[in-house]
Amino acid sequence: MSQQGRDPTVAGAGDPASAELRRAIDALSPADLHRSARIKWRLFGEDVLPAWVADMDFPVAPAVHGAIRGLLDRHDLGYHHVPLSRRLRETLVSRMAERFGWEIDGRSILPLVNVLQGLDATVLLHSRAGEGVVVQTPIYPPFLKAVAGSGRRLVENALLRGPQRFEMDLEGLRGRLDADTRVLLFCNPHNPTGRAFERSELEALADIALEHDLVVVSDEIHADLVFPGHRHVPFAALGPEIAERTITLTAATKAFNLAGLPCAFAIFGSDRLRQPFDALPPHVLGHCGILDDAATIAAWTEGQPWLDVVLDYLLENRRLVEETLAQEMPGIRFAPPEATYLAWLDCRELDLPDEPFDFFLREAKVAFSRGTDFGARGEGFARLNFATSKAILSEILERMASAVRRRSGGS
Ligand SMILES: Cc1ncc(COP(=O)(O)O)c(C=O)c1O
Repeated sequence: MSQQGRDPTVAGAGDPASAELRRAIDALSPADLHRSARIKWRLFGEDVLPAWVADMDFPVAPAVHGAIRGLLDRHDLGYHHVPLSRRLRETLVSRMAERFGWEIDGRSILPLVNVLQGLDATVLLHSRAGEGVVVQTPIYPPFLKAVAGSGRRLVENALLRGPQRFEMDLEGLRGRLDADTRVLLFCNPHNPTGRAFERSELEALADIALEHDLVVVSDEIHADLVFPGHRHVPFAALGPEIAERTITLTAATKAFNLAGLPCAFAIFGSDRLRQPFDALPPHVLGHCGILDDAATIAAWTEGQPWLDVVLDYLLENRRLVEETLAQEMPGIRFAPPEATYLAWLDCRELDLPDEPFDFFLREAKVAFSRGTDFGARGEGFARLNFATSKAILSEILERMASAVRRRSGGS
């Protein structure tokens, strides 16, 4: 189903599979989740409710479950097509066309183990030590690490806080670019602010990339998690000139909650961008295995009804966060995300004694992502992951509210 054609008010409503998925989400139990293998629930003690790493607590799509189960039942865990099965390549091409109206050439796809590999590899292959790499902060921490760990120079351009939402500071960006800045690491939809940038904003950014001859890495792993009223525009789909300098990174793992079955793709807009990747020894970048391949194909070909229900649920959770913050914690500023299940909480007006991450972990037993990990401008912020049941999310919000009340002298 195309993103544009979906009616959020009726999607999934009423049919037994959707009702069952909703019941399963509603029934999530912290005790069970704490016993699961996932790092989200393992890292902190059992008294802590985790709302940090970008995993959802939801059950996987039945199509994915069935595909994995089929392989297990047949003890079918051997080597797979190397490096990319024809079916997976075709599935990716169709998915981009159907969902985003973006036509790509199957030969432009390079399989990767995960998206971060593509980010790190591009920095190493398309810039030299000491050259600049631009990042718009706050930003998902591995963007900063990709620069810091590679001996490149971080060119940090902060997003601006507009009246309703964060916006790109394009004039600031122009001012910061110099002749030695080669690469722009771009995140759309944006983690942590949840912006799904509009076509006009992307076009303005594309103008700058063209003016300054930048290679753009567009991390679009959150593209399937865009809420009604917004749409995902692939950066490389803006036109041939911009495609020619763009490496798009994507995966099914974020929207379909498959981080444990890693499988990602770089899509090159030109041979020039791909050439240094092809020149690497054949096994440096790796590729996905038989389970990962099956999970990604099942997600993208049959998983949409599941994703539609999940998006509706996330939208309700977003509303719950918005209403509770407005009523109980007006000192926390928050722009509802246009995409992703992440809320970037501005806690600066609360005047907390330490960083919000530390305060809420200690006083509320809630574990967010630490704001300062997203760049220096993350001071006073925390990132909340709201992809959990309403009951768990309500408990997280109640614990926060009571910690804030205690701090301000209330009961
Ligand atoms: C923007 C962004 N890129 C990449 C990743 C990680 O992707 P992968 O697990 O494929 O490396 C995440 C995970 O949260 C993310 O938010």
